[in-house]
Amino acid sequence: MALIGIIGGSGLASLEGLAVSGQKIRKTPYGPHSGILTFGKFVNQEVVFLPRHGNPHVIPPHKINYRANVWALNEVGADRILAINAVGGITGNMRPGRIVIPDQIIDYTWGRGHTFFEDGLNDVVHVDFSRPYSEPLRQTIIDTGAGLEMDLVKTATYGATQGPRLETASEILRMEKDGCDLVGMTGMPEAALAREIGVEYASICMVVNWAAGKCDDEITMEVIDQNLQECTAVVRKLLSHILNSL
Ligand code: HPA
Repeated sequence: MALIGIIGGSGLASLEGLAVSGQKIRKTPYGPHSGILTFGKFVNQEVVFLPRHGNPHVIPPHKINYRANVWALNEVGADRILAINAVGGITGNMRPGRIVIPDQIIDYTWGRGHTFFEDGLNDVVHVDFSRPYSEPLRQTIIDTGAGLEMDLVKTATYGATQGPRLETASEILRMEKDGCDLVGMTGMPEAALAREIGVEYASICMVVNWAAGKCDDEITMEVIDQNLQECTAVVRKLLSHILNSL
């Protein structure tokens, strides 16, 4: 039976409703993954859950061992990954509370272990990343959301920043000019690593604040946490129906 990997982001350090059958830590060539891999049945689907920031939520975005995480999920047999990411909204439609299924990425991160293809190669490898997310997986999420009458945003460009600080208003303006609709700190290199290792990957983004300069108020953790709680409830429901249809 297919095994679906779920990478939980901020707000989703564990998967409520998972009938746990086992837990594992894998040794990886890249060091430790973020947290224990938890296996079980969610609805009717075999799932392996990994908390991206650890559980408790202590690993900041730039310190996450993305290679170990993706390598470990692939190693235990996950053939698809659903990633949950908290983001800021940049363009008009991306107000806090929205759930967005991005279809493009711009990467502004630096210094992260971002490829499996650097050491011990027989030849240089370049993988196609024109469409960074799995279209079939995106469509499943979008169709499931439509069936639940959820107003998901179906296309968006995710701009991945280094963090952990939030951006300046000018950085967000530049990102908007580049074509970014969303800003987050964890979308890359995770998506690229999944592509390199051959695992289908899609992201469910929860908009938890307006990006810097897009509203008059300061961005506070209180605002982020409040929206995170609301979005997480919707995403849990969405996830259970997606897993039912996979
Ligand atoms: N910027 C970057 N990452 C984020 C934000 C943001 O405004 N909100 C949630 N993750």
